[in-house]
Amino acid sequence: MKYLLTFLAMVLALALAAPLVLGQEDVMKISSAAQGLKDRPPVTFSHAKHSEIYECTTCHHEYNEYLANQGGGEAKCSECHQPSATAKNPTPLTLAYHQQCKSCHLRLLEFKAPKTGPIMCGDCHRQGAPAAKAKEAKKK
Ligand code: HEC
Ligand code: HEC
Ligand code: HEC
Ligand code: HEC
Repeated sequence: MKYLLTFLAMVLALALAAPLVLGQEDVMKISSAAQGLKDRPPVTFSHAKHSEIYECTTCHHEYNEYLANQGGGEAKCSECHQPSATAKNPTPLTLAYHQQCKSCHLRLLEFKAPKTGPIMCGDCHRQGAPAAKAKEAKKK
């Protein structure tokens, strides 16, 4: 019986881990701290829930010379969007996130969609997030 339970626990663990095998975490913690930006607590982003609703290319992109989206290499946003605007990429990192995340949630509100995401600062940058707690603890 004990072995059967262990086996079932393993099957369950594998099932839960399946999305990770596909290459991305279900729920991501997005933090631009590595880019030297860290005024706000990091943002929790349910990648799996969003990916169920939208095509990958709604958010991921890699533009050719005609600005046609070639699908997006699934690279980190920060690989192309720098903390400050550059000639090659005029959209700085924070704006890139805000423009993508917030404008979609706002549009959904505008169109009275049944469900939308947060648009208030504190609802995305949550104080209670573990990394924010660590930062608060450090300050003391
Ligand atoms: C609603 C927007 C959105 C959708 C839809 C979406 N993604 Fe993402 N994805 C993101 C964001 C934001 C990140 C975090 C990028 C970062 O950390 O710079 C990310 C990260 C990833 C990463 C990890 C990249 C890395 O190097 O850390 C992979 C892989 C990925 N997405 C693949 C996909 C695939 C495949 C789909 C479609 C099934 C998809 N995404 C749909 C927004 C989205
Ligand atoms: C392979 C490079 C590359 C990656 C990776 C990338 N971008 Fe971009 N992005 C661009 C280029 C090039 C443009 C067009 C020039 C501009 O407006 O900065 C752009 C434009 C944008 C824009 C302006 C509106 C639009 O869609 O044209 C937003 C918003 C944006 N990116 C958000 C993101 C987010 C969020 C991520 C990560 C999920 C991301 N980008 C990943 C290269 C990239
Ligand atoms: C193309 C539209 C779109 C984009 C882009 C988008 N969202 Fe959302 N978001 C939604 C929708 C729709 C929901 C409601 C999903 C639900 O409740 O089933 C949502 C819900 C959320 C929620 C609350 C629900 C939950 O459990 O996740 C958060 C937090 C969130 N989004 C954060 C983000 C962040 C951060 C980004 C940018 C990295 C982002 N979203 C980009 C459409 C979008
Ligand atoms: C829909 C979600 C969302 C909302 C709403 C939102 N942000 Fe963000 N913001 C992000 C994401 C995602 C990032 C990139 C990850 C990070 O560094 O926290 C970001 C990055 C930032 C950054 C740069 C990183 C840092 O911590 O210094 C600042 C500053 C910021 N946001 C301030 C704000 C302010 C002020 C508001 C309200 C006016 C706001 N945000 C609302 C999602 C959001």
